[in-house]
This record gives sequence, structure tokens and C-alpha cells, in this order.
Amino acid sequence: MAKGKRKLILAIESSCDETAAAVLEFVDDKKFPKVKTLSSVIKSQTKLHSKMGGVVPEAAARAHVKYIRPVVEKGLRDKGLGLRDLDYIAVTAGPGLLPSLMVGVEFAKALSYATGKPIIPINHMMGHLYSPLSEMQNTKYKILNTLFPIIALIVSGGHTILVLMKDIKNYKVLGQTVDDAAGEAFDKVAKMLKLPYPGGPAVSKLAAKGNPSAINFPRPMIHDKTYNFSFSGLKTAVLYHLERAKGLGLKAKAEQGGSPLSTSHLTLNPSNICASFQQAVVDVLVSKTMRAAEEFKAKSVSLSGGVAANKLLRQTLETACQIHGREFYKPPLELCGDNAEMIGLAAAFKIHNGFKPVPYKKIYADPNLSL
Ligand code: KG4
Ligand code: ZN
Repeated sequence: MAKGKRKLILAIESSCDETAAAVLEFVDDKKFPKVKTLSSVIKSQTKLHSKMGGVVPEAAARAHVKYIRPVVEKGLRDKGLGLRDLDYIAVTAGPGLLPSLMVGVEFAKALSYATGKPIIPINHMMGHLYSPLSEMQNTKYKILNTLFPIIALIVSGGHTILVLMKDIKNYKVLGQTVDDAAGEAFDKVAKMLKLPYPGGPAVSKLAAKGNPSAINFPRPMIHDKTYNFSFSGLKTAVLYHLERAKGLGLKAKAEQGGSPLSTSHLTLNPSNICASFQQAVVDVLVSKTMRAAEEFKAKSVSLSGGVAANKLLRQTLETACQIHGREFYKPPLELCGDNAEMIGLAAAFKIHNGFKPVPYKKIYADPNLSL
């Protein structure tokens, strides 16, 4: 693309349980693409899936089929735009749930076929990776050399990834979870405590009323030399704690006629469990991120993904960065969870980095696409 010319990107996201579309205006610049979001529409399926306690892939795909056209139409109509005004169609190609991904990908392919506009397949995790850069590009693009290297922590429902971004083009995955993702652990702990889906917001809300030092849950792999993570053992530790507390409570009730929720030394206190669990997750994430920042002499640290909405994580990482003299970037709350804006942003960077259009027939949904 010729540098300096204004282009419009329609971005589509349907990898899990949000049907989303956004229109972004994009002016390429030698150093940093300048991107402005013109419209962003998200139709969330939370209500639908909360009834089942988690995302049901077929139900999610059916809802995407129902909402994708109205969502895309609204994204365009909100700015008085039509398909002919677009220059690119960006779509999440993976990773995610295959039935969900297919809806967005096939819809984008049909639009590309009908309009002749090039299609840009985007890795959903690239969307999360670039989402904090929305803040950077407005303020800092002229002093780019002060941003890189960046250590980027991406924490979502399906992934926990630590990335080294050497510059605007080059990145390397330093480590990732070997089992459950951080968001998945929040969701599973919520389920154990019979809290509503999605679990992250419910657990962190309850945690705000609890004591984070009440229960000494493990900090898995915190001292491990690698930059990998593991949250399955922590989730199991919460389960064992719950079972022991419930068991002791019932025993006390039988013996003394007391309440099962008020046994003395091992109380079943959901707020304390949530606060202690959340603290353990945050300790591991922040410790490994800051160690990587130290090792790779990072000028900045960025945080993104659904779990980036967690207040304690945002604050703790920000404070650690202030102490160690590193810039800290996080997306605004509306760009933490899944959205199409971040897909458009990643597309702008992809174009800036020299993307060559692929015929739409060669684009497929890939549920296992990796960074
Ligand atoms: O990025 P995202 O919207 O979807 C995926 O790509 O997976 O992330 C969703 C995850 C869920 O596991 C949800 O429980 C978690 O983000 N989450 C949170 C919070 N808000 C959402 N986890 C902890 N604290 C939060 N405040
Ligand atoms: Zn996501």
C-alpha cells in the first residue's frame, strides 16, 4: 500500500462467543501505522451461555449466524459507510472454536467474493498482542525507539502467552501455559464456587471483599527457569481446599449442631478463597513477566486479553513497571475482551509490515492457529 494514503478496514471477529465488527481508518506511516476506530459493534452471547455454565460451541455458532449480518451492517451504517467504501476485509481465522470461526471466515469470504476487496486473515492472538498498541500509536509513535523491546503478556480464556516484541515486525514467544490458561482457571474456580459464567469478573468481584493472604495457595512454576506457566495445579488446590473445608464443616455440624460455613480454622469463605486464588495467579503472572523484562532489557511491558480486565493484575503490573522504570501499556477495558477493533488493528500492522493479499479461496478457519 502507498504510504500516507487513507484506507478503510472492515474487521470481523467470531472466534468464541462474541460476534463483532469494526471499521478502522488507517493511514500508513513509515514508522508506525496511524489507526483510528470509526465504529465498533459487539454482540455478546454471555446470557445464552451463562445458562449452560460455559460456551456451547454449536449454540455459539448458531448465534453468530444470526447476528453476523446485523452486526456488520451496524458497523458500516453507524458511519454512513457501505461495502464499496472499504479497502480491506480483515477476519479472525483462528485460534478459537471451529464452528464459531467458520461463521466469520465464510462471511468475510462471501463479502470478498462479492466486492473484490482483499481479505486479511488475522490470528486472534495477534489482535490481543496489538490491542495495547492502540494507546501507544496515539501518543508515542514518533519516539518509537523508546518502546521496544516490549515484553507482552497475553492472558485470555484459552491462552497465557509471554511474548518478546523486538520491534514492530519481529516477535518471539518466550513461554506459554503447559495446561490451563489463566482465564480458564478463573472460570473453573468460579464453577466450583457456583458463581456465574464468565468466571473471571465474578471471582474478582468476590475477591475484592476477601483477604488475599487467608489461604496460602501454590504459585505454580513461579521459580521455574522457563517462561512457561501452569494453572491446573492451582485450580486443583482450590478444589482440595473446598472439599476439606466442606468436609470439616459437615463434621462440625454433625458433632455440634453448628453451621457448615462456620468451622473454626478451615472456613469455607468464598471471598477469601477468591482473593487468595486471584493473588496466586497475579503473583505468578507478574513475577514471570518482570523477570522476562529484566532478562531482555525491555523498555516496555504490555498486558492484554480478557484477564487484562482484572483490576489487581493491572495495578500490580503497573506498579512493578513503575518501580523498575519501564513503560506499561494496557488496552482500555473495552479492548480486553474479544472485539473486532483489535482485529482491525492487527490487520493495519500486517499491512504496514508488507502483507500480500491471498485469494479468498485459500483462507480457512484454523482452530489451532498459533502465534
Ligand atoms: O480474551 P477473552 O475475552 O476470550 C478469549 O480469547 O479467551 O478472555 C476471556 C477470559 C475468560 O476466561 C474470563 O473469565 C476472563 O477472560 N476474564 C477475567 C476478568 N474478565 C474476564 N479474568 C479475571 N478477572 C477479570 N476481571
Ligand atoms: Zn480473546
